[in-house]
Amino acid sequence: MAISVKQLHPLFVGEVSGVDPRRPLEPETVAEIVAAMDRYAVCVFRDQDIADEQQIAFSRNFGELEHSPNYGRGKGQEARLKHQELFDVSNLNEKNEIYDREDDRRMFRLGNQLWHTDSSFLNPRGRYSLLHARKIPPAGADTQFADERAAYDALPAALKSRVEGLVAEHFFAHIRQQLGFTGYSEAQLQARPAVRHAIAQTHPGSGRKHLYLASHASQIVGMPMPEGRVLLGQLIEFATQREFVYSHKWRIGDLVMWDNRCTMHRATPFDEEKHVRDLRRTTVSDGAVALRNAAA
Ligand code: OGA
Ligand code: MN
Repeated sequence: MAISVKQLHPLFVGEVSGVDPRRPLEPETVAEIVAAMDRYAVCVFRDQDIADEQQIAFSRNFGELEHSPNYGRGKGQEARLKHQELFDVSNLNEKNEIYDREDDRRMFRLGNQLWHTDSSFLNPRGRYSLLHARKIPPAGADTQFADERAAYDALPAALKSRVEGLVAEHFFAHIRQQLGFTGYSEAQLQARPAVRHAIAQTHPGSGRKHLYLASHASQIVGMPMPEGRVLLGQLIEFATQREFVYSHKWRIGDLVMWDNRCTMHRATPFDEEKHVRDLRRTTVSDGAVALRNAAA
């Protein structure tokens, strides 16, 4: 089946039609979607009425899936979603009620409002994420995406040569530690050592150069910590200027797939004590090895 794509932003993002994620895909269709991802970096599939198992099966066409940690387990909280392949991107507790303001799961979710890319702190890192909208609030809660290939192209020459060869260390807890979150146990902090990635990379599918950044990046290897953090902050600020950013306004049934290698994203606020937002994410690992992240 031939897919068609309508571009939604001057630089990237395609709305894809002609795909039914509920059915097994032909290898040619998978290849066409991968080609669209290489071109657009973010693909939007509208009006998808899919169940958890269908989202998981569709995502598996693109590689091995990560397993979601359940940070509440240590406190005896069950996961709300039963499939380990699904990341619960909602404001609901295991009883399907809006969680308390002080709930650790809320603190955890708040980190998503900082620019990041999924699983940069794992080895292998995240390649694609697919986020499906089940319930959305009446206002707010857009997800924003930044095109880091366009950002790299636009870097001033001095900054381009400065980032060449630089390596950043990504640590899963850094994003929430910046926010003052202290709820991680020693065992959790030990379980996932920091991972190193070059800041300037070449995207394999398109051959384009891009920045690889995230609020999980805690330092630049070989640089004094404050100098590295200042530079990381400047690069993230540069890479997320308005012209590089697409804001996705969610509709129920939207399935948005993005390339974590050459984009960043962030959540935006909504009235989360009043309204339910239920999105579910699968993340395809950037490597052949299945991840077993079942948390402490
Ligand atoms: C994610 C994420 C953003 C949002 O699921 O990885 O960052 O708007 N979500 O919920
Ligand atoms: Mn994310």
